[in-house]
Amino acid sequence: MNNLLASRLFQRFWQIAGAVSIRVKVLGIVLSVIILLGTFVTLQMRGVLTDTLERRLLDQGKALAGQFAEGVASFIQDESFAEARAYLIGRQEHYSSAGHNTSILYISVEGTIQQISTWDHGPPFTDDTQVAVDIAVPVRESDAVLHLGVADITVEQTVTEVTFQLVTITLVMIAVGFAAAFFLTWILTRPIYELVEATQVVATGDFSRRVSQWADDEIGELAVAFNGMAEALAQAEVEREEREQLRTQYVSKVIAAQEEERKRIARELHDSTGQSLTSILVGLHNLKDVDDLVEVPGRIDALRAIVSHTLDDVRQMSWQLRPSTLDDLGLVSAMQRYIDDYQQRFGIQVDFISRDIGERLPVDMETVIYRVIQESLTNVVRHAQASSASVIIDRRANTLRIIVEDNGIGFDLAEKQNGKSLGLQGIRERAALFDGTLTIETEPGQGTTLFIELSFDSQHTNGNSEHE
Ligand SMILES: Nc1ncnc2c1ncn2[C@@H]1O[C@H](COP(=O)(O)OP(=O)(O)O)[C@@H](O)[C@H]1O
Ligand SMILES: [Mg+2]
Repeated sequence: MNNLLASRLFQRFWQIAGAVSIRVKVLGIVLSVIILLGTFVTLQMRGVLTDTLERRLLDQGKALAGQFAEGVASFIQDESFAEARAYLIGRQEHYSSAGHNTSILYISVEGTIQQISTWDHGPPFTDDTQVAVDIAVPVRESDAVLHLGVADITVEQTVTEVTFQLVTITLVMIAVGFAAAFFLTWILTRPIYELVEATQVVATGDFSRRVSQWADDEIGELAVAFNGMAEALAQAEVEREEREQLRTQYVSKVIAAQEEERKRIARELHDSTGQSLTSILVGLHNLKDVDDLVEVPGRIDALRAIVSHTLDDVRQMSWQLRPSTLDDLGLVSAMQRYIDDYQQRFGIQVDFISRDIGERLPVDMETVIYRVIQESLTNVVRHAQASSASVIIDRRANTLRIIVEDNGIGFDLAEKQNGKSLGLQGIRERAALFDGTLTIETEPGQGTTLFIELSFDSQHTNGNSEHE
């Protein structure tokens, strides 16, 4: 219950105190500490000083009173009162003169036949500012008592003086503390303001902004960290722009390649298929006019050969465009067919292994895998001068891994890494569709291995495009 109240109070306090600037906070703390300390020391000093001085005054007074009583005793025995008075007045004047910081107000002897006192008409008037301390001492061998009145005016004066000095010191300390706190907060807040300003600039996307390292302290470290961050952001921005540029290049290259492909198909349809069909048409037309029936079977055989050749061409073309086997039989069978055909056509021995990849994969992924392997094996034919190669597809948890390896001449990676070549870049882009990566291991004379990893957790594989 109490704790709750305390935490509420603290919250309320912090709401107000936390809202002001650091400068005000520091100034507030420094000034309150100095004022508190000054007040405490002043009050304490006043108390101690007053006590000590008053005790001393009393001691001194007692000593003097004893001395006077001794001096006046013989006069009283002789009953020479006038001399006694003269003696006392002499003493009072002596001790009230400069050099004695006792202020004697009166000396008076009572209990004798005639009262002897240094005053003329009764005890001197005392008020609040001048309190008389009355000290009584018996006079030897008589019934008389000597009264000594001392003023504590010197005590008051001293205490007032000391108080004034302490207050002055406190005020000076306040001025010094104020200046120090002001300077301190200036040192502290100047780099912070610079950091705040620079952060706002960076937030607008200008990563070139840096701050100066003001000192080698924590704030200096902050400045260094800030500069590091801005540096990293600038770097990331450059990389992003480069990637963006590469992607744009890639897209336009892909479009160009597609157009090229269409041109090739159009030319092939026109030159090869069109030509074949034309010659079939002409052959059929001529067949009508054949006089010698013996020639007919031979001509028909020739035409059939053309038709069968044309059919092969069309199949080949359609298969190159998109292997129907991929949709009908699935990745592994389609891949197997592609590799069989590849071995026959190019005379390169290819081992194909697929492990644990299940029945069917998402259709997008199958296409990507197919094209990636196609591009890799095409590179083997075009660049590797290899006699054998291997293709491995396997699945581990949520990653699918493709390894295409050849025993060819390899190449210098650093040289080709500039992104100019379309094929490897295309593999990388395709893999990226599945949060994947391409890693190339090669060296001139060492053969080439491509590692491609695709993730099943990527957005691409989620939900859509599953085979029924
Ligand atoms: N298996 C390989 N063996 C040797 N060199 C290769 C192989 N794959 C790629 N390269 C080299 O990398 C370059 C880039 O390949 P790629 O991006 O497919 O472009 P392209 O095939 O159009 O030249 C090729 O020109 C070739 O020099
Ligand atoms: Mg290529």
